[in-house]
Amino acid sequence: MDPRPVGIFDSGVGGLSVLRALRQLAPHERLVYFADTAFFPYGPRPAAEVRKRAFAVVHRLLASDVKLVVVACNTASAAAIADLREAFPVPFVGMVPGLKPAVGSSPNRHVAILATEGTLDGELYSRVVDDFGRGTLIDNIPGPGLAELVEHGSCGTDAARAAVRRALAPAVSAGADTVVLGCTHYAFLAPDIRAEFPGVAIVDTGEAVARRALQVLAENGLEAPSHSAGELDLIVSGDRDRFRETMRRLGFASDLTGATP
Ligand code: DGL
Repeated sequence: MDPRPVGIFDSGVGGLSVLRALRQLAPHERLVYFADTAFFPYGPRPAAEVRKRAFAVVHRLLASDVKLVVVACNTASAAAIADLREAFPVPFVGMVPGLKPAVGSSPNRHVAILATEGTLDGELYSRVVDDFGRGTLIDNIPGPGLAELVEHGSCGTDAARAAVRRALAPAVSAGADTVVLGCTHYAFLAPDIRAEFPGVAIVDTGEAVARRALQVLAENGLEAPSHSAGELDLIVSGDRDRFRETMRRLGFASDLTGATP
């Protein structure tokens, strides 16, 4: 049993989609969420720069005595997960677009991968394509501007609907029947995608990543005692009030209690 918190980070609000799943599955785990909004977006930045940020963020999380780090960001995982594992003495759980489940469930064997440039250009993703993509038509879609829409709290607006339409219409008209949300920000656009493309299946790996984190805690004897309170601490590198406002808009109002001022 280990009462120390779990660290989670992303460039902004995206990783909250993983945090939400983690809180549902293990409400007694204490969490420290680091939103690196001063460096948002990670997607278009060179991998070396994202790696540098990932190291800085993990150093800060370790100063909060975290027992495990969830890299709740596909872009940061692509740029840094192997190096982080080598450099730090805590276990890491990273993310990669859910191509494997999508391929397994796509009737047309035609899937659209919505992820940032950094993720799509990364070695981690190419390995997943090599391992699981054979025999499947894969449309890699960088979705420019989508993460920004979410970060500004604009999910569910006409602008969000138009942006997902623009990004996905060519692939869907060409027969893609499954969309993989390969960026944690995009999880918050799922209702807009569903509204625009009702026949298309959506693959979001947020819950699977949360389950994996719990499995790693269990394997290492790091689970929190079940009577723990499970508070949430927030660290925001940019504008904290703005971040809290977006959190509220995304439905995280109750999670704000107990956050570090
Ligand atoms: N949420 C991040 C991801 O999962 C990307 C957003 C950004 O570009 O910063 O890839």
